[in-house]
Amino acid sequence: MRVLLIGSGGREHALAWKLAQSPLMTEFYAAPGNPGVAEHATLVALDIDNHDAVVAFCKDNAIDFVVVGPEAPLVAGIADRLRAAGISVFGPSAAAAQLEGSKGFTKDICARYNIPTGAYQRFNNAPKAKAYVRAQGAPIVVKADGLAAGKGVTVAMTIDEALAAIDDCFQGAFGKAGAEVVIEAYLDGEEASFFCLCDGKHALALATAQDHKRVGDGDTGPNTGGMGAYSPAPVMTPDMVERTMKEIIEPTMRGMAESGHPFSGVFFAGLMITAKGPELIEYNVRFGDPECQALMMRLKSDLLPLLYACAKGTLDQVTAEWSDDPALTVVMASKGYPGSYAKNTPITALPADSEGEKVFHAGTGLKDGTLVATGGRVLNITATGKTVSEAKERAYALAGKVKWDNGFYRNDIGWRAVEREE
Ligand code: AMP
Ligand code: GLY
Repeated sequence: MRVLLIGSGGREHALAWKLAQSPLMTEFYAAPGNPGVAEHATLVALDIDNHDAVVAFCKDNAIDFVVVGPEAPLVAGIADRLRAAGISVFGPSAAAAQLEGSKGFTKDICARYNIPTGAYQRFNNAPKAKAYVRAQGAPIVVKADGLAAGKGVTVAMTIDEALAAIDDCFQGAFGKAGAEVVIEAYLDGEEASFFCLCDGKHALALATAQDHKRVGDGDTGPNTGGMGAYSPAPVMTPDMVERTMKEIIEPTMRGMAESGHPFSGVFFAGLMITAKGPELIEYNVRFGDPECQALMMRLKSDLLPLLYACAKGTLDQVTAEWSDDPALTVVMASKGYPGSYAKNTPITALPADSEGEKVFHAGTGLKDGTLVATGGRVLNITATGKTVSEAKERAYALAGKVKWDNGFYRNDIGWRAVEREE
């Protein structure tokens, strides 16, 4: 199979590493990729926002299958364009990607199909939103409706904080994404990420993970794209997984099909495990980054036929096997992230990979032959172990071998699971 992978982060390096191991792969390209992805695929300098150029490349190179990593091209309709050109794609249509692209859209599906989630209202102006907040009281959650790079959510502990967040949204802090606001009840519990493939009619549960969104140890400081993750998440017991499939994933799949926009790709459900059970915080329509890096370390099956089955509607004919050993990934980021940071700082040493130990590249590049940090989140130091504690020890030992003066990482990735193991 001739495959094109789209994206350039740590998630895409993990997908590339796994896809390249498939005996079905005959030719593997990635656009734009990064130096880690380049170890497994031929990099193509395509502008992935230019869908005409992506389709033309696929035609010229007889690409059979395109795997889309990030959400932005999906929300922009890249999967629709490729399918219209007769090319198979892993990833949803623009209409189905609204599950991530619009929080209001997802909340409306939850309401229609009785999917457990926080009670909510949608608003297109500040006075009504503020009146609702005053009536509901705090804590309460204010969300910009559209894609805001993970920054559009305020968990407000006081009414004043919520009112300020409403002003931010309507005064344009998140651009178009904030033109509509969703206000939602605060859910109390432990968060978990749940990943499930879907071909429109069938769903295949993959695995669970837990992310660490805050930049600092002890879950302090501003939110980031994710500073580390591990899989599986102990809070997702077999009973919770079964309930999540029945109460959340299956009704969503049915709802999307009934709306005329069947969902094909990966459901990444952000869950809060409350006293009542799993409740949906949000959907993403792509793999989590860095959750994917931990997941790929545990996946024993060939990834390519699993993703291809989503495109072909044959997900009922495949299974996914997982290692019981947990995997944990520590994100190394540029000092200053998630604020401003220096670019092109040199990374002078990386440890070699070995069994169960792998450094995935995220925001890296090559400058005059030297590896440099080009982004906020730069390296994903990943290891497996018999326990989360062991995976954590191995990952941090590996991180200690990286020579990069401008890098930093959290020291407590996995703390919830480690506490459970002690
Ligand atoms: P989101 O961008 O929707 O994932 O929200 C970012 C983070 O805000 C989540 O990971 C949660 O930690 C928190 N959050 C979102 N919605 C709620 C809610 N209804 N109750 C409590 N925390 C929430
Ligand atoms: N790590 C969270 C995300 O990918 O959205």
